Order: sequence, then C-alpha cells, then structure tokens
Amino acid sequence: MFKTPTPEYLHSENLRNPFICVHLRGQLLLQLPRLVFRRDNTPMAAPIIQSGLEILYTREQIARRVAEMGEQISRDFAGQKVLLIGVLKGATIFLADLARCISLDATFDFLSVSSYGKGHQQSGEVKLLKDVDHSVEGQNIILVEDILDTGLTLSYLRRVLNAHQPRSLKIAALLDKPARRIQKIEGDYIGFTIPNKFVVGYGLDYAERYRNLPDVCVIPPSALGDE
Ligand code: IMP
Ligand code: MG
Repeated sequence: MFKTPTPEYLHSENLRNPFICVHLRGQLLLQLPRLVFRRDNTPMAAPIIQSGLEILYTREQIARRVAEMGEQISRDFAGQKVLLIGVLKGATIFLADLARCISLDATFDFLSVSSYGKGHQQSGEVKLLKDVDHSVEGQNIILVEDILDTGLTLSYLRRVLNAHQPRSLKIAALLDKPARRIQKIEGDYIGFTIPNKFVVGYGLDYAERYRNLPDVCVIPPSALGDE
C-alpha cells in the first residue's frame, strides 16, 4: 500500500478551531462554522476531526475511478433502464456520484440494514431495517454499497432482492476488503481493492463520524476502540 500525505485539512490551523467566534464585550455573540478553502479555491465545510488519519484515496482519485465505473455500467446496460439501490447510510455519497456518471435512464431506491454496532467490530448478524419502496421485479438492479468487507451484508441483501425476481442483479462497491471475507461473494463493479485497514470518509463512518470527509482515509488501529 502506498503512503500518501496527511490530509491538508488536518494540518490546517483552521481546523483546530473550526468555528469563527464573534465576541462583544467578552460575551460570545455568534459562532459560525469556518469554511476551509482547498487549493482549487472551492470551499469545504471544516470537518471536525482529530489528527492521525491518513489518506488512502484522494477525492480526485475517487472521482476518476467512479467515472470509469459509471462508464462501464452505461456500456453494460446500453439501451436499458437501471435501478440503483443504495445501502444506507454509507453508500449515499458514492451512489450520488456514481449515478451522475451513468448515462442511462436510472432510478434510485434505498435499503437499510444493521450490521456494525457503534464501532468497527462486525456483529455477524444482518437485519433488514428498511426495505425498498417499490417493486424490483423485472428490473436491472445495481446494488450500491460503500465497502464489501466480510460479505455478510451483500450476501444477505442479494438473497432478499433475488427473491423478488429482478431481471438482473449486480453489485457496485466503492471498496473491496477481500482479506476479511466470510461469505463467498464478489462485486461486479469495484472501485478499489484495499488491504485490511479500517477506513472512513466518502460516506464511510467510524461510530457515525467522518462520513463527510471527501477523501477515503485510514484510521490507525490505536484510534479504534472496542465498541
Ligand atoms: P460486511 O457485511 O462485513 O461486508 O460489511 C459491510 C458494511 O460494514 C459496510 O457497509 C460498512 O458499513 C461496514 N464496514 C466494513 N468495513 C468498513 C470500514 O473499513 N470502514 C467503515 N465501515 C466499514
Ligand atoms: Mg454501510
């Protein structure tokens, strides 16, 4: 695995104080979130994060790869409609970007499952918390997930969706961590295959935090609790 520099926003003095505080005669009058400006001058809301995260894939690398995945899906389903089903909440950012790289007639739906607890340990149990809103029968489903890890979630969802007789069912995952696989399953469209590290950002969380980081970052094992 290559080592990339610590995110620029982690070095930023701004992030140690992510709010602009306006005082009047010693009293706090107003507290506004500070915007950090990236090198290309686009503003980014300052994520409130600790240091110690390392970028694994930058937003530019992700954007390039997601565009390639969208083009491949558009070629594979040329002339057909697709139904993108995102797995809440981790897949939302990936689905939003991927969908805009697909030049087909596409609709969205979302599923929600419980798999991880608050932290990074897999419970082994998958439960459907929210089903799709509309029938999937006869449709070209692309199940969109942030990461394929043990494979328990996607194996379970594939079973559930296949029971409703879609025309086809493919899996698109931004990341694949094959080292942790328990259930034999492969994605049809994979962004990046990663080593056995816990990653956050671009929708992926650690105890519900860090989803808004624009890059995919690695959390060092020392920072992971035993939740
Ligand atoms: P699986 O059922 O083990 O394949 O897990 C899939 C789910 O686990 C994903 O949708 C993620 O929510 C979560 N997950 C697995 N690995 C990571 C990680 O490295 N960071 C954040 N979430 C992860
Ligand atoms: Mg998830």
